[in-house]
Amino acid sequence: MTITNDRAGDIADQPLRVAIVGTGAVARLHAQTLQEMPRVTIVAAADTLPGRAAEFASAHGIPNAYSSFDDLLAAHKIDVVHLCTPPGGHAGQAVIAFAHGAHVVVEKPPALSLADLDTMTDAATKAGRRLAVVFQQRTGSAVRHIRKLLESGAFGRPLVALCQTLWYRDDDYFEVPWRGRWETEGGGTTLSHGIHQIDLLAHLLGDWRLVQGQLWRLERDIDTEDVSTGTIVFTSGAVASVVNSVLSPRETSNIRIDTDKATIEVDHLYGHDHTNWRITPALGVSESEAAGWALPADEVQSGHEALLDEVYAALETGGELPAVADHPARALEIVSALYASGRENAVIERTRIVSEPELRGGMRAPVTPLQQG
Ligand SMILES: NC(=O)c1ccc[n+]([C@@H]2O[C@H](COP(=O)([O-])OP(=O)(O)OC[C@H]3O[C@@H](n4cnc5c(N)ncnc54)[C@H](O)[C@@H]3O)[C@@H](O)[C@H]2O)c1
Repeated sequence: MTITNDRAGDIADQPLRVAIVGTGAVARLHAQTLQEMPRVTIVAAADTLPGRAAEFASAHGIPNAYSSFDDLLAAHKIDVVHLCTPPGGHAGQAVIAFAHGAHVVVEKPPALSLADLDTMTDAATKAGRRLAVVFQQRTGSAVRHIRKLLESGAFGRPLVALCQTLWYRDDDYFEVPWRGRWETEGGGTTLSHGIHQIDLLAHLLGDWRLVQGQLWRLERDIDTEDVSTGTIVFTSGAVASVVNSVLSPRETSNIRIDTDKATIEVDHLYGHDHTNWRITPALGVSESEAAGWALPADEVQSGHEALLDEVYAALETGGELPAVADHPARALEIVSALYASGRENAVIERTRIVSEPELRGGMRAPVTPLQQG
């Protein structure tokens, strides 16, 4: 999508004026990163919880705090809005931000359904603004390097993959009212947690063709799933097995891709650097060929900083969004297909996810609690 930046002239002279909406847990990462950027100024923050935006603003040296996003926009001309609100609000808030003329940086998951995401991308196109999505596991020098090697065919053909998000969230975590409910969180651990590694896997392996999945509620007192399992078949023919869980005491996020020349692995929790990656050549691969796969000397860790650096470089110049923040729908499509598969007890083809409105309308699926004994 090519979008012209009719504010490029302003941008050359003045820092980008930013607002952070939703000042809970993840907003801190946005504020800390933005504060380090010389050509960005955080003008205001908003949060509907009484006092929360003011406290956040004071902690981060932000001059204005509001209890309503509308009041914030009425008072300031904003160039970029960061949506750090619960996911159910993202679509409506993005539409408002685009109508104001701002670009939007939205936390994962970008929306609770593909239909809502369509509304957001349509509003961005209409306003000539960009929608950057925060799937920060895509960032960092290792991912960039591995992706390039996979795309070039240097690793040969991808064959088998594992994609595991084995996290632990206790009952207290689900005391936050918007969590664990279809209406407000939109899904369970697949949509809220597993989507990060699923997104990274798809960033590395490209387009997908088929998904089959099951949703389980084994332990937590929630409406959504606390475990899901599934299979993704990519258009390359690679087959991936996926497990998502909030019941796993030794937490890990990992991906393993076996190609006909190597096993590529990343094993981390919430972020990775080069020490988290391992490449094991297959028998018969020469030492010199394997040496050519070595990670680059200039290391960039994954994270919000890496992502926002690239996004703002694009926003400042009016260039295309970087690959680390573009394609907001890819992971949401796979996740939607996992839920649809659980709902229908069927294999879901991508062609159906693209074309059938009922599969784009949300994740809600019956999750039967497993009975003991
Ligand atoms: N990228 C990551 O690693 C990462 C990590 C954590 C959370 N997240 C995502 O970030 C988003 C927020 O998660 P969180 O853990 O920070 O949640 P949180 O509950 O800690 O914070 C959300 C804040 O938004 C406020 N809010 C709700 N509705 C609002 C509205 N209409 N206007 C203004 N403020 C409003 C709430 O009062 C709350 O303070 C979610 O989409 C979540 O999935 C991403």
